[in-house]
Amino acid sequence: MKIAILGYGKMGKEIEKISLERGHDIIFKIDKDSKVENIKGADVAINFSTPDSAVKNIELGLKSLVPVISGTTGWLTNFNRIKKLSEKLKVSFLYSSNFSLGVNLFFELNKKLAEIMKKNDQYKLNIEETHHIKKIDKPSGTAISLAEGIIEIGKYNDWSINSNKNKSISIESKRIDKVHGIHKVKYSSMIDSIEIIHTAKNRKGFALGAIISAEWIIDKKGIFDMKDVINDPKFKF
Ligand SMILES: NC(=O)c1ccc[n+]([C@@H]2O[C@H](COP(=O)([O-])OP(=O)(O)OC[C@H]3O[C@@H](n4cnc5c(N)ncnc54)[C@H](O)[C@@H]3O)[C@@H](O)[C@H]2O)c1
Repeated sequence: MKIAILGYGKMGKEIEKISLERGHDIIFKIDKDSKVENIKGADVAINFSTPDSAVKNIELGLKSLVPVISGTTGWLTNFNRIKKLSEKLKVSFLYSSNFSLGVNLFFELNKKLAEIMKKNDQYKLNIEETHHIKKIDKPSGTAISLAEGIIEIGKYNDWSINSNKNKSISIESKRIDKVHGIHKVKYSSMIDSIEIIHTAKNRKGFALGAIISAEWIIDKKGIFDMKDVINDPKFKF
């Protein structure tokens, strides 16, 4: 596969390393000062850049008629704009707030636990995320996805930062040096607490998940997320 990397930071470099190990070619490496106006010739583009540059990067891929995988977080207020462009041009797009297989299993576990806790009013719920100090957006896209998974179950209306409201899920963000990502969902009562925790040990899982998604999307048409990849009966990690 010929891959265009849109955003050559820590994740872009990890994507390059694992792509080469899996026998792919990197034909574009685009970062903030790039003057490239189209990425024609690429089979797929993988975007891990910044919240401010994600839309521009994704549009560059779609307008070049190249399917795009995006893992950049903090730009989702513009998701509809990308969805419309992808539909109009009939070029596929896949977004995931977290490409790690473990986190996607964690998303499922989170929903199962929310289902069990739905009828129980003794417990106060909060989500805590901890990342390295250079992470720009807060709360993390993964924490938002966890909150959205719980909202789907029906007991909570929305999420907010450090909230104390009854029907709102409180998300707390911590920034500590050298942490790749820790997400904790905690139900706490006067008597005890129940917690589920996911800890990323390095960036490899995110990069591998994004590349596997890129290999998967090549012969698909539409707008997808990581669930579509994992739930594909042909999927093997
Ligand atoms: N979805 C996931 O699984 C997952 C995993 C890890 C990180 N992330 C997200 O991915 C993004 C990147 O993470 P990172 O750790 O690589 O950050 P990073 O800061 O190391 O890299 C970001 C890169 O984007 C570049 N950039 C800035 N403006 C640009 C532009 N206009 N065009 C192209 N590139 C531009 C920067 O120069 C930098 O090299 C963040 O939003 C982070 O939250 C997502």
